[in-house]
Amino acid sequence: MKALVLSGGIGTRLRPLTFTTAKQLIPVANKPILSYVLDHVSAAGITDVAVITAPETGKEVKNYVKNGSAWKVKVTYIPQEPLGLAHAVKTAREFLAEDDFVMYLGDNLIGKGINDLIRRFETEKLDTMILLKEVEDPTRFGVAVLDDEDNVKKLIEKPKEPPSNLALVGVYIFSNKIHQAIDRIKPSWRGELEITDAIQEMVNLDFRVRAEKLDTWWLDTGKKDDILVANAKILDSYVKRQINGKTIDSRVEGRVTIKKNAEITNSTIRGPSIIGKHCIIKNSFIGPYTSVGDEAKIIDSSVEYCVILENALITGVDRLEESLIGRKAKVSKNHKKRVLKLNVGDYSEVEI
Ligand code: DAU
Repeated sequence: MKALVLSGGIGTRLRPLTFTTAKQLIPVANKPILSYVLDHVSAAGITDVAVITAPETGKEVKNYVKNGSAWKVKVTYIPQEPLGLAHAVKTAREFLAEDDFVMYLGDNLIGKGINDLIRRFETEKLDTMILLKEVEDPTRFGVAVLDDEDNVKKLIEKPKEPPSNLALVGVYIFSNKIHQAIDRIKPSWRGELEITDAIQEMVNLDFRVRAEKLDTWWLDTGKKDDILVANAKILDSYVKRQINGKTIDSRVEGRVTIKKNAEITNSTIRGPSIIGKHCIIKNSFIGPYTSVGDEAKIIDSSVEYCVILENALITGVDRLEESLIGRKAKVSKNHKKRVLKLNVGDYSEVEI
């Protein structure tokens, strides 16, 4: 079994962060999403991994993943113009050869590993195994219709009128028959070769396509709120109480990780939350479900349910909630004048 990790594409929905960062590298609980994906691949015993990259962000992805040794995998990079998920498989044809493979979208997070899924694919000798999850707004996803025995009958990409609420999760397992199916499909209305259409073709060709309903949380990191929810779920599941930084006249309540060389003065940190290396927190309250990236500074502020990236500076803000603050961004309150002074980048969103 090989793995194909899709880390190409263009992250329009997460602008402005994705002007400077590949969306797969946006940190959740201070660790890039792609890192969790590679954790799952590695834990399933897969060592031969190809990472699909895009022209704009490929260099950054390579700088982070390097040769894959941090995850005990061997990585081959495959550059691709973002022309669809099935196009990515086509581009990786030589690497995949005739092997079975897991295709994992580099911006998807699920609440458990993929070992059981692979075992089922192998024991039932399947050609395609897909994961589904009930969602409130299926129009954002690939959508599946199943028969009474959970056989896949129909798949449609981002339907305007969804025939079910079962969305395709970004983890798939394929046999080499997928290549035949991809050769038979045409680009969709959005100009992409859709993997959803290829799987439909597998169904039409009577290949063995099965679906499993995911019994944990799933987050496709489409928008700011998805990142915040993913952050909360990850903090809830993994954060341990581990205090390596320095605390002076401060309270640290519950499951809080404070990394080396962080300094917390006259503040309260309530878990689950994580404070990165070399952070400075002073006269502040950091509430549950907050991740603070390395070298960020939070002074005279109250922050809750937020993702604050590296080197951000927050000063004098009474209640910052449900916010995603980018690298080196500055948020401060002007106490003297009742005016707002903003220097907001393209595609930013400010709620006042
Ligand atoms: O997240 C699950 C959804 O992912 C599924 O429900 C859909 O059926 C599936 O088509 C896909 O939809 P998205 O529109 O969300 O895909 P997106 O363009 O965001 O790409 C998903 C990942 O694959 C992302 O990490 C970027 C990467 N990618 C994307 C394209 C189009 C590539 O590496 N190459 C590409 O050509």
